[in-house]
Amino acid sequence: MQDILVLYYSRTGAVRQMAKLVARGIDAVPGARARIRTVPAVSAVRESVEPDVPDSGAPYAELKDLEECVGVAVGSPTRFGNMAAPLKYFLDSTSGLWLKGALAGKPAAVFTSTATLHGGQETTLLSMMLPLLHHGMLILGLPYTEPELTSTTTGGSPYGASHVAGVGADRVISDEEQRLCVALGRRLAAAALKLAR
Ligand SMILES: Cc1cc2nc3c(=O)[nH]c(=O)nc-3n(C[C@H](O)[C@H](O)[C@H](O)COP(=O)(O)O)c2cc1C
Repeated sequence: MQDILVLYYSRTGAVRQMAKLVARGIDAVPGARARIRTVPAVSAVRESVEPDVPDSGAPYAELKDLEECVGVAVGSPTRFGNMAAPLKYFLDSTSGLWLKGALAGKPAAVFTSTATLHGGQETTLLSMMLPLLHHGMLILGLPYTEPELTSTTTGGSPYGASHVAGVGADRVISDEEQRLCVALGRRLAAAALKLAR
């Protein structure tokens, strides 16, 4: 059994729901198992620390999760068209892995949620790809052979899975968005298993 990391940050829950759907796609591939991890919020107070284990939900990611897993899906809410600071903060701690080339050649995929339809989903997806490319990871998107990529009227992009949560965070993940999250997880796991062979 090979583990695939689903690494995400979520403040109000939309990206957390997407992470579970991506994990469902990973777990649907025989021989693959999703390892879901989150990252803590970044505090404005320098000395303030979160508990080592969150009170609820997924455990916090450690560098060894990236090293041990054969692929990674990275998810973040959009923050002004970019990934959220807590995820960036975690990725900024990975220079030791970069020095060793520990992630080079592993596949990666990205997902995001925004409040608005044209609020920067694609730029956020691209922003998450940049550090992964520096690590030498192989970036996977979604192919147009997934019919929902053409039929969606909300989220879903060739650059990765996405969701439009609404300004009041009141929009459920549409059927198309859900299917594309699952498809992304399945595609990532299938590629990771082939590459790990
Ligand atoms: C500081 C900040 C910046 C944001 N920037 C954007 C933005 O550029 N475009 C957008 O559509 N939504 C933006 N949002 C909304 C979130 O991306 C959106 O609510 C997302 O679905 C939250 O995901 P979560 O529920 O996983 O935390 C922003 C929210 C915050 C707090």
